Amino acid sequence: MAIEIIAAGRAVPPRRVTNNDLAEKLDTSDEWIRSHTGIGARHIVDDGIAVSDLALEAAWNTLTLAVEERLVPETTAEDLAKTLDIIVLGTSSPDYHVCPATACIVQDKLGASRAGALDIGAGCSGFIYGLETAAGLLELHDRRKRALVLGAETLSRFVDWNDRSLCILFGDGAGAVLIEKTCAPRAGPGKRGLLRTILGSDGSGAEYLIVRKGGSRNPYRTGDPVEKAPCIEMNGRAVYNFAVKKVVEIIEQFLSEENITMEDIARIVPHQANARIIQAAAKRLGIPEEKFFINIEEYANTSSASIPIALHELNRNGGLRRGDLILIVGFGAGLTYGGSLIVW
Ligand code: UT7
Repeated sequence: MAIEIIAAGRAVPPRRVTNNDLAEKLDTSDEWIRSHTGIGARHIVDDGIAVSDLALEAAWNTLTLAVEERLVPETTAEDLAKTLDIIVLGTSSPDYHVCPATACIVQDKLGASRAGALDIGAGCSGFIYGLETAAGLLELHDRRKRALVLGAETLSRFVDWNDRSLCILFGDGAGAVLIEKTCAPRAGPGKRGLLRTILGSDGSGAEYLIVRKGGSRNPYRTGDPVEKAPCIEMNGRAVYNFAVKKVVEIIEQFLSEENITMEDIARIVPHQANARIIQAAAKRLGIPEEKFFINIEEYANTSSASIPIALHELNRNGGLRRGDLILIVGFGAGLTYGGSLIVW
């Protein structure tokens, strides 16, 4: 039995904000942002758009691709949605602060009438955590066959647009994959799908990437004066160091424990936080940077959405072939980290 990725889709808001657009309002420049992060632009949602709206668009995109490319027997995306057993959505910017889960809103609007739905809060590692959670839930029960795994963010709502060290980094977007439990082998010749996942957390770094206001530690109370909106605070250097270390460790762990070499891996699809993180990891591993797929220039850091958006793009551009061994790897608030080894 294997858990296979059937299709990957995405949604990106049409409004594109370039580095030069930001430099008109902030003390920054296209040169600084590009040289320190690799980012050239980001896509930002308009007022009135919530994360479930982006997630829903990515979900329909994924289901429609699966139908159009005849990867499933269903003939409409609506019929396919009705067959979903689980919807898992990784996000740090849900529609609502406490409840309900954004995944439930997506489930309803998709008409996924028999699906269970839940959110995953694992920062930018949310998609990797979500993929493993959904795979585990499918494996737990004979009757569960299909799941939709999403990463969706509107972090533009939670950054201080006057903080030049932070606001230049993030963009909005959503990505999704349809996964299915099949009878293909998970090991040995002809193995398919999700082979193995590593998940980890180092909560001692919780303060390095944090939104302090609004939770049970620091709640809003009746009568509180209206103050600055809750915003992300980040120790960029600490997150950077953690990220490089963990990306290298995860890749080395897969190589040694799965008895594979770098030549066996067709592509590494990392979380797109900063091109320099990826370049530094490639250098430490002694592998060419081109082994990593990088599309941060156009989208900036879309947090839990960055890996599924990258998978969609790589696949659409012909960069992935069925049977390719790929590795996804990520890190983020928590601090969390993780990676999955997948036969595409
Ligand atoms: O998904 C996970 C989320 N987060 C991350 O992955 C972030 C990881 N960290 C990073 O990517 C990098 O640490 C940053 C891109 C955030 C910062 O890069 P850095 O090379 O660590 O810069 P820095 O914070 O050390 O700042 C260097 C200088 C400072 O000026 P002084 O003190 O040297 O005069 C900053 O004030 O650059 C200045 N600076 C800027 N200058 C122009 C900071 N932001 C900007 C800016 N434009 N946007």
